[in-house]
Amino acid sequence: MNEQTTASGKTYAEAGRDHLWMHFTRHSTYEPLERGGGGAKIPIITKGLGHKVWDDQGNEYLDGLAGLFVVNAGHGREQIAEAMARQATDLAYFPIWSYGHPRAIELAERLAQHAPADLNRVFFTTGGGEAVESAWKLAKQYFKLVGKPAKHKVISRSIAYHGTPQGALAITGIPELKEAFEPLTPGGFRVPNTNHYRAPEQFQTDEKAFGLWAANRIEEAILFEGPDTVAAVFLEPVQNAGGCFPPPPGYFERVREICDEYDVLLVSDETICAFGRIGSMFACTDFDYVPDIITTAKGITSGYAPLGLMIASERLFEPFRKGTNAFTHGYTWGGHPVSCAAAMANLDIFDEEGLNQRVKDNAPVFRTTLERLLDLPLVGDVRGAGYFYGIELVKDKQTKETFNDEESERLLRGFLSKALFDAGVYCRADDRGDPVIQLSPPLTMGPAEFDELESRLRSVITEAENYL
Ligand SMILES: Cc1ncc(COP(=O)(O)O)c(C=O)c1O
Repeated sequence: MNEQTTASGKTYAEAGRDHLWMHFTRHSTYEPLERGGGGAKIPIITKGLGHKVWDDQGNEYLDGLAGLFVVNAGHGREQIAEAMARQATDLAYFPIWSYGHPRAIELAERLAQHAPADLNRVFFTTGGGEAVESAWKLAKQYFKLVGKPAKHKVISRSIAYHGTPQGALAITGIPELKEAFEPLTPGGFRVPNTNHYRAPEQFQTDEKAFGLWAANRIEEAILFEGPDTVAAVFLEPVQNAGGCFPPPPGYFERVREICDEYDVLLVSDETICAFGRIGSMFACTDFDYVPDIITTAKGITSGYAPLGLMIASERLFEPFRKGTNAFTHGYTWGGHPVSCAAAMANLDIFDEEGLNQRVKDNAPVFRTTLERLLDLPLVGDVRGAGYFYGIELVKDKQTKETFNDEESERLLRGFLSKALFDAGVYCRADDRGDPVIQLSPPLTMGPAEFDELESRLRSVITEAENYL
């Protein structure tokens, strides 16, 4: 196939290597061999349709990660593209700074209807990190307005990822992502996550007791710091980083109790878990808890345009109804008309095709299909919920021994990431915690594609044994 070129006559891979600063990317991989680099070619993805994508060489891949936990309704939806084009023609841009426009208002109303209890107030951002940032700022300002000005600290879980702005990064629990940017916004504190596979010995056979123990660590942290200083707890319904840790039974019930007791806000960071990823519009519904704030992004537009948001309860909005008070915070692109039009069209597809019900119906099949991989020596654990799974790889299944840094580097970066891609599966091999392969496919996938994913994963993981 003839490779297409950019205006300068370079191939996309060459021009990308020379000018595109890719996110979270070791660029040395793509530097030429003669300059001491790895000499690899940047994969160039040119087309998406349904749950498949194609590269510039015409190779086809199953999109096992929905882009980046984003393309929930699948690629190539003309209905969304057309809604965006109509909106750009009618009104391409207007801010929501003291003005409204129909799409932002319609979308806010629709989201409030889906959100539980009195979470009715929608604040738009352009992504998840900004939503997290906004939620922390809201928590701080809210408590100042209601006469508890010392409440400003936040608690989150170890290895959790909550975004990259300096506030959100202070909530993120992955030390390697923070090191380069220290000192960060002060006030972020960590508690244990709910990785049951690696739970303390006494909880191995009792998930409920483990959940209670993990939730009580939040109370302990609040008491250590002083309840008068703690503003919020940020938790994902299913924690992504580390490889899909679902909440043990009773966990969120106990967290809610603790938050109520110490007047600490519970923020459900559903940047990934909302919009059908677990099976409902908001995953707090899947796990039966009511947060004070939901933060979300990604699946809201299925990736057709950038959009994030937080939804706050009436209680948090109350002080902002009065006098000269205003939430002194905002983004030029927040609630962009074209993004809101994309979100509305995306949610129409959810309704028309019953995507959430589809996830609920198929999730048990997804689980049992992936669990077949447990017969492989390297597969230690398969965990997750809905259409959101992590497969943890271990060196020794009996002892659950994990890989050392050098082995992990060799296995994940040296072999698995590329081998999976070469096998026609786009997914993620992640070592932010213990090494995991993560799957989060478009919600349009079904049992036939699950089988296909399983068989391709099986052959690559089997081959991976040779790289240890
Ligand atoms: C739970 C969670 N919060 C926040 C973020 C940051 O979102 P964004 O990259 O849109 O800023 C992510 C991104 O993956 C996430 O998973």
